[in-house]
Amino acid sequence: MAEGSWYDADIDRVIITEEQIREKTAELAKQVSADHADSTGGLLLVCVLKGAVMFMADFARALGRYGPPTEMEFMAVSSYGQGTTSSGVVRILKDLDRDIAGKHVIVVEDIVDSGLTLSWLLKYLESRSAASVEVVALFRKPDAVKVHVPVKYVGFEIPSEFVVGYGLDYSERYRELPYVGVLKKDVYARS
Ligand code: XMP
Ligand code: MG
Repeated sequence: MAEGSWYDADIDRVIITEEQIREKTAELAKQVSADHADSTGGLLLVCVLKGAVMFMADFARALGRYGPPTEMEFMAVSSYGQGTTSSGVVRILKDLDRDIAGKHVIVVEDIVDSGLTLSWLLKYLESRSAASVEVVALFRKPDAVKVHVPVKYVGFEIPSEFVVGYGLDYSERYRELPYVGVLKKDVYARS
């Protein structure tokens, strides 16, 4: 953990360290690469903004070392608003910039909680005629799954607690933390 950063004082405890994220990302990239070694057309990585932004950047670079070649797209959907519980109502805030018909898509997700957002997204991408759709999620909260969604690649199973860091926010803050942790209770009391 970086010592002395302003945000360390707001964190109750670190759940996943920067080092663990780095190692896991390399591991996931190797797996995805091995499973798609014969994918001559390459893979289309679809990042789900904003939470997956850090993971997308690191995962894409890790995958770049092994291949196959990738292209990138970004989508933004909202299911949470400003709070910390899933509403199940998904809204597209930013759509794909182009046609994905016939593409082998890998959705790059930060975290699967209830699974509602992802389940909706998979149906959406299939309706846009992707050749295949798979998911890599850095984190999954196993206790909270309301909908069964096939997530082929999962980085870490974490407890059903609200976490921040490495792209994950609380009211748009804490995304820049290099690790993932739980906020101190008094941080919520402040807002
Ligand atoms: P569902 O419940 O639909 O939610 O699987 C998935 C999306 O909700 C966000 N999410 C979180 N964001 N800390 C966050 O900052 C969390 O602990 C957390 N849990 C879920 C996230 O955007 C995810 O894609
Ligand atoms: Mg997300």
